[in-house]
Amino acid sequence: MRNQQATKLLFEMSRSGRRAHHLPPLPAEGETAASLLPADQLADAPPPLPELAEGDVVRHFVNLSTLNMSVDTHFYPLGSCTMKYNPKRNERMASLPGLVDVHPLQSDRSVPGVLQMLYELQQMIGEIAGLPGVSLQPAAGAHGELTALLVAAAYYRDRGEDQRRYVLTADSAHGTNPASAQMAGFSTRTVKSNAQGLVDLDDLKSKLDDKTAVFMLTNPNTLGLFDSQIKEITDLVHEAGALIYLDGANMNAILGITRPGDFGADLMHFNPHKTFSGPHGGGGPGAGPICVRDFLADYLPGPVVEKVGEEFRTVDPAKTIGRVRSFFGNVGVLARAYIYIRTYGKEGLRRVSEDAVLGANYLLSKVRHILDVPHGDRCMHEFVASAKKLKKEKHLSAMDLAKRLLDFGFHAPTVYFPLVVEEAVMVEPTETESKETLDAFAEALFRITEESGDVVEHAPHSTNISRPDDVIAARKPILRWTEKDK
Ligand SMILES: Cc1ncc(COP(=O)(O)O)c(C=O)c1O
Repeated sequence: MRNQQATKLLFEMSRSGRRAHHLPPLPAEGETAASLLPADQLADAPPPLPELAEGDVVRHFVNLSTLNMSVDTHFYPLGSCTMKYNPKRNERMASLPGLVDVHPLQSDRSVPGVLQMLYELQQMIGEIAGLPGVSLQPAAGAHGELTALLVAAAYYRDRGEDQRRYVLTADSAHGTNPASAQMAGFSTRTVKSNAQGLVDLDDLKSKLDDKTAVFMLTNPNTLGLFDSQIKEITDLVHEAGALIYLDGANMNAILGITRPGDFGADLMHFNPHKTFSGPHGGGGPGAGPICVRDFLADYLPGPVVEKVGEEFRTVDPAKTIGRVRSFFGNVGVLARAYIYIRTYGKEGLRRVSEDAVLGANYLLSKVRHILDVPHGDRCMHEFVASAKKLKKEKHLSAMDLAKRLLDFGFHAPTVYFPLVVEEAVMVEPTETESKETLDAFAEALFRITEESGDVVEHAPHSTNISRPDDVIAARKPILRWTEKDK
């Protein structure tokens, strides 16, 4: 049902004199609020704020908060972005006064508990990665990519290998990979995928030379496939004197099962908001810690936390690239990652990944009867279907499917990514979804493909706004400035 209540602005609901509170009377007879304030701070008229009762304000904001879908309200199968459930226990613990009441400018000695937590988090994610050098500084996955590439650049500069100015990225990579490489001052070359959706080894070989600095690889890749040639790939890259960067966005599939350091990665980032249940926060603060091999640890950004005897202190690594973020990074998000890892422990984390992979394969087994799945009979934690045939036969696109799913109470999967699949529909259920939810999602998908084209094409029908892009396009002539408006 459309939520009419939340569509009105507070200003439209305002009624003169309506109040959410009553202030106590002023002590002296004839005194007014204005007479208590310094004259130079008084305006001629009160500011034009909406006047409302408390109930109206509360309903307004609660209703607004229900307009969007969220992990707490709906199944959210956003491939690659891993919108996993955020345990409420994490939220409560991350809100403890010892964490929220500290000030970032406090001295190391006054926040030993926070430093101990960050130190232990460094140790734990270094162990999960199989890469011992850790910086918790970067504020997102993409920021981790950039930071790690700056570390690689500093390493090559130190070795007098400045000619290594190319970063290789896979054609199935997230757009942040080539973007981060460019920002770090490298040029990029794209490595093709083969027919199975894995790295095309011949193409990789043809692009590796003494000018190659780093090969950025996502494994499992964005098609939801673990690249079984990984040993050969990392050997080839290392033989060329280059480094392997692992985009850790898909770590949710391999926690406790295999470690990037063990399969040859030299640097990597984690997305704690994908892997360790930090909230995504609508574009708000995230974290993108990076892990590197020993020989790269000296270049990490500061501060890192060290343990000396029983004391914890912050230091800058010897050849640090400098700061990439203020203070200790986004401690609130890092705290949630710490709590999540400690709560699950070694066996529990492995189980998380096993369940994520099991759920995705169960859903894949159902979806493959509805849509084509061009790569792989099995998947890791996510899979990529294609609406290409549906488009050809019924003129329904991946976008139409995604929009219509909202009417069935499901957040849309990722669409049109990765670019190597036409009309891509990328589904990632995550480990906490029940069989019933997965069945209901597959059933909705099936029913949509059976519906009349008109209904699907104009979906969603149950949301306050239908298709923002189309609405904006329709309004364009109204928004366009005319000579007269100027
Ligand atoms: C494969 C992959 N790499 C990198 C990123 C970038 O991570 P972030 O959004 O934390 O910057 C994403 C984000 O979705 C991703 O899916």
